[in-house]
Amino acid sequence: MIKAAIMGYGTVGSGVYEVIRTNEKSIDKKVGEEFRVKYVLDLREFPGDPVMDVLTHNFEDILNDEEVTVVAEVMGGLRPAYDFTKRCLEAGKSVCTSNKELVAKHGAELIQIAREHNVNYLFEASVGGGIPIIRPINTSLTADVLLEISGILNGTTNYMLTKMANEGMDYADVLKEAQAKGYAELHPEADVEGWDPCRKIAILTSLASGKQVDFEDIYTEGITKITTEDFAYAKKMDCAIKLVASSKKVGDTYCAMVSPVMIHREHPLYMVNDVFNAVFVKGNMLGDSMFYGAGAGKLPTASAVAGDMVEAARYQGQTLPVFWDAEKLELAPVSETSRRFFVRVKEGTDVSVFGDVQTVDGGIAGEVGFITPVMTEAEYVAKAEALTVISMIRVEG
Ligand code: HSE
Repeated sequence: MIKAAIMGYGTVGSGVYEVIRTNEKSIDKKVGEEFRVKYVLDLREFPGDPVMDVLTHNFEDILNDEEVTVVAEVMGGLRPAYDFTKRCLEAGKSVCTSNKELVAKHGAELIQIAREHNVNYLFEASVGGGIPIIRPINTSLTADVLLEISGILNGTTNYMLTKMANEGMDYADVLKEAQAKGYAELHPEADVEGWDPCRKIAILTSLASGKQVDFEDIYTEGITKITTEDFAYAKKMDCAIKLVASSKKVGDTYCAMVSPVMIHREHPLYMVNDVFNAVFVKGNMLGDSMFYGAGAGKLPTASAVAGDMVEAARYQGQTLPVFWDAEKLELAPVSETSRRFFVRVKEGTDVSVFGDVQTVDGGIAGEVGFITPVMTEAEYVAKAEALTVISMIRVEG
C-alpha cells in the first residue's frame, strides 16, 4: 500500500482529498496497489468532515512517518510551503503541488533536491489548473524547439473580461460580481495586476528553455485600466481583449510578457471565454497546438495534483526527467519586440508621427482610435511621448 499526505485543506486540498476518495478504485488500479491518504495537515478543525479521521496539526507527523512517500503541498504561498517541501524531498518523499508562487521562485532548486533524493517534485496544477500542459512539455514536445508559448493563464481575469465584453459591465462592477461569485479574491491584485499569470509564464518559459526564468524580469501589465470604451473599439476591430501571457523565442533566449491584448476573431485564443484557460504552443516541427480547459477551480486543480500523486506513486525510486536547471536565463528586452498598437487619443490630435495608421471608429465622442503600423515597443514609446494617449492596447498578429 502507498501512503500519502496532503498539506493544506483549503479549496484545492479538500478537492485533492475528494478526488482520491471518489476515484479510489480506479486510482488503485492505475497505481498498481492501494493508494490511501494517511494524513491531512491543517491548523483548523473541520467538525463533521470525514477528513477528521486523518487530520493532523503537526507537520512532523508527516515528515517522520516513513510509510508516507507521496505528499501534496496545496498550502499556497512561500512560507512555510518552501521549508515543508524541501524537508519532505530530503526525507525521500515526492511532493506534488499547485503552488505556482513556490514553483516559479524555487522550482529549479526543488527539482534538483528531488533528483538528489531519487524522488519527484511535480507541479502540473501550477499552470492552467486541470489542463495538462507541464507533462506534455516535459515528455511529448521534447523533439521540438518551442518557438512560442502564449496563453490565457488566469481564469478570474478572463471571466471579468468576458463579462465586460458580453454584458457591457464596467471594471468595478464586474470585479464586485467576480468577488461575490468567489472567482476573485477580496484582495484581487494577484489576478487583476497580472502577477499570477506572470508566475505561470515564468514556469512555462523555464521549461521551454531549460533554465531559470525569474518572474521579476517579466514585463507585467494587468487589466485594471481596461474600460468599456476599449471594448467598443475591440468590437469594431472584430477583436476580443484578453490578458495574454506570452513567451516567444528570440535568438537563444525568450521574450516573455503579460499584458492585455487585442486578439482577432481568427486567432485560436479569441474563443477562450469565462474561467477557461488555454495555452497555445508553437513548436519548430509541430507547428501550432492548443491546450484548453478548466484553468482554475477546486476539482480541476485537484485533479491535476492527484494525477501527479498517482505518477509519483507509479515511479517510486525513479526521478522523472524535467528540463529546468538553476542557470538564469536572461530574457530578451520587450523594448525590441515588434507589433502593432491600438491607441486612443483626443479628437483632433495629430498622429502623423505614427505614419500610415488605420483609424477605428468606436463611436466614442471626443476621441479617436487607431492602429499603428508594426513597430518596436521602443519606437512606440518614443512616438507616443509627443501625444496625450488615453489608452494603448497591444494588437496580436
Ligand atoms: N487565481 C487563479 C486564476 C487560480 O484565476 O486563474 C488558478 O491559478
